[in-house]
Amino acid sequence: MKIVVTGSEGMLGRDVVTALKERGHEVVGCDLPEYDVTDRIGIQQFIRNEKPGAVIHLAAYTAVDKAENDRAQCFAVNTLGARNIACICNAVGAKLLYTSTDYVFGGEGDEPFETDSPVNPLNHYGKTKADGEEKVRKYCPDSFILRICWTYGKNGKNFVDTMLNLADKQSEIKAVDDQTGSPTYTKALANLICDMIETDKFGTYHASCEGFCTRYEFVREIIRLAGKTVKVLPAESGEFPTPAKRPHNSRLSKKSLDEAGFSRLPDWKTSLAEYLSDK
Ligand SMILES: NC(=O)c1ccc[n+]([C@@H]2O[C@H](COP(=O)([O-])OP(=O)(O)OC[C@H]3O[C@@H](n4cnc5c(N)ncnc54)[C@H](OP(=O)(O)O)[C@@H]3O)[C@@H](O)[C@H]2O)c1
Repeated sequence: MKIVVTGSEGMLGRDVVTALKERGHEVVGCDLPEYDVTDRIGIQQFIRNEKPGAVIHLAAYTAVDKAENDRAQCFAVNTLGARNIACICNAVGAKLLYTSTDYVFGGEGDEPFETDSPVNPLNHYGKTKADGEEKVRKYCPDSFILRICWTYGKNGKNFVDTMLNLADKQSEIKAVDDQTGSPTYTKALANLICDMIETDKFGTYHASCEGFCTRYEFVREIIRLAGKTVKVLPAESGEFPTPAKRPHNSRLSKKSLDEAGFSRLPDWKTSLAEYLSDK
């Protein structure tokens, strides 16, 4: 199938392009500066000319803290960009996969969020992604909305590499012990995205590696697997004030994947070990 991938130069985009090509799909990537999803006419013309069978829309404004003071641009990329892509997909008969985020939820409680749990974003980025979801549902019924969480991969600045760098510079690392989620390797996610786009099982899904941990537990495992000796200390979110609030609970229920017959991703520790050996 011919598939357009927006945000193809990003952390997830690079792995998705590789995985699609490995499966024999014809892939057309697009990213800044040549293609801008906020340029409605330009991006729609591009997709119309390519005539893809599917579009995987990964392009996004992902600087979560910066977004708090750059609201209009974040909204333009994440919400209006999603609308632009959804409208053209519907017009040309291409199915659409849009990646969203655990940040659409407010992080209440300690149970996994279901795909139909009410959204309640705590920060502007999360709000623009939730609004992007609504645009996709409204303008392109033949679509997948895939909420993902805590991703890291070889082709982007990520939490794992940041911690490894800190471990080389500091004698101790403090990591928050009151935010829980599932660290997720983009390579594993890219395979699921391929599985999904090859079907017509449209709907809203959650995908993250199996198991849950706090950021503190995540850092401990990174350091252990990397064989470093730095001390890791638990901390509270309040000790690290950030412009954008983060949810305490980012657990995502994978029931929707099971019901549709998609395979779940590997356990987060297994995926982390694979990432460290792939690096
Ligand atoms: N990373 C996570 O933990 C996480 C969690 C949940 C959901 N997600 C979602 O997963 C998707 C992929 O994220 P990622 O981690 O791969 O992010 P990323 O590395 O920041 O990739 C996003 C790509 O989109 C490009 N882009 C930004 N604005 C654009 C525009 N106006 N037009 C075209 N391209 C544009 C970026 O280019 P520049 O680099 O030049 O800006 C970048 O290449 C996004 O939808 C994100 O919201 C990520």
